[in-house]
Amino acid sequence: MEYINLKNSELRVSRLCMGGCPMGGYDWGSDIREDELIDAVHCAVDSGVNFFDTADTYGLGQSERTLGKALKGKRHQVVIASKFGVHAKKGTPTFYDNSPRWINESIDGTLSRLGTDYLDLYQVHYRDGKTPLSEVVGALEDLKKAGKIRYYGLSNIHENDRAEISSFEGRFVSFQEEFSLACRKNEKDIQTLSRDLNLTPMTWGSLGQGILTGKYNRDNVNFQPGDRRARAVYVNFHGEKLQKNLEIVEKLRAVAAKYGKPVSAVAIRFILDYLPLSVVLCGVKRPSQLLDNIQGCDWHLDADDMQLLDEASR
Ligand SMILES: NC(=O)c1ccc[n+]([C@@H]2O[C@H](COP(=O)([O-])OP(=O)(O)OC[C@H]3O[C@@H](n4cnc5c(N)ncnc54)[C@H](OP(=O)(O)O)[C@@H]3O)[C@@H](O)[C@H]2O)c1
Repeated sequence: MEYINLKNSELRVSRLCMGGCPMGGYDWGSDIREDELIDAVHCAVDSGVNFFDTADTYGLGQSERTLGKALKGKRHQVVIASKFGVHAKKGTPTFYDNSPRWINESIDGTLSRLGTDYLDLYQVHYRDGKTPLSEVVGALEDLKKAGKIRYYGLSNIHENDRAEISSFEGRFVSFQEEFSLACRKNEKDIQTLSRDLNLTPMTWGSLGQGILTGKYNRDNVNFQPGDRRARAVYVNFHGEKLQKNLEIVEKLRAVAAKYGKPVSAVAIRFILDYLPLSVVLCGVKRPSQLLDNIQGCDWHLDADDMQLLDEASR
């Protein structure tokens, strides 16, 4: 396994991080089983993956509960990241909320669901557009002093937030942004933010929500209601974007055959090599998917294959 230190921190993490979004069991289809998710977490730990990402909103806490259950007795071996900032409660409207009051309520819920008394990395899921960052940092520093979190990070950084973030240099350790062979629109931002704000980038949707695994084609992308990918906003599975993605998958397939790797592993390897200081987040539903994805680690793509995939996905 490849490991990296998150900037401004003592956190040493595997470059492949197991994403906990499908673990919420919500809006990702009907083929999610808790026993398979738990087996996937164990399989990850046994394979050297020590980094797990979740959020209080994934399945309204279900992802944190399942992850906590799976990591019982393994807490000292792993680095756990979660997120706050979306005020989501059953029966009430959902809104972004970075207020210190909500941060304090959120962390206690997160720790209790995870069954741990500290979190390694607490990330602002989305900025709420109103709470000054100084107040957010103040609340997070208080959580550090209380021993509830070790470090904090960001996610989905808006251009307008950058100046404010730069005045807290050295405080945040990481940021999450969507990036994959199917989604390169944030590429410049990722490179600029990692350099100028000295943060470790963590890519989400690294498999394009599954399209880059090679298992989808025009005939099997009619997702059922209850799977977010049925909605047009999940562009990777719709219209021209789907066509373009399927062309990328054909290139991936050829490269995968050359190296004797699963298609998903090559999609992951591209990011690991293209953004050499990054962490790649991948959501999985079962051990077999995890085992495929792990094969993205500990090797490199030749320069001509990098170029082929780079050009195909531009
Ligand atoms: N900060 C943010 O705002 C944000 C947003 C989104 C995600 N994230 C984080 O990033 C993580 C990764 O993103 P994501 O989970 O949305 O998307 P992803 O990793 O691109 O895709 C995950 C899906 O791909 C399929 N898959 C994965 N590995 C596979 C394999 N080897 N073979 C076949 N299918 C496979 C599975 O779905 P099927 O089997 O149903 O195809 C899985 O649920 C999340 O879990 C979460 O931790 C963060």
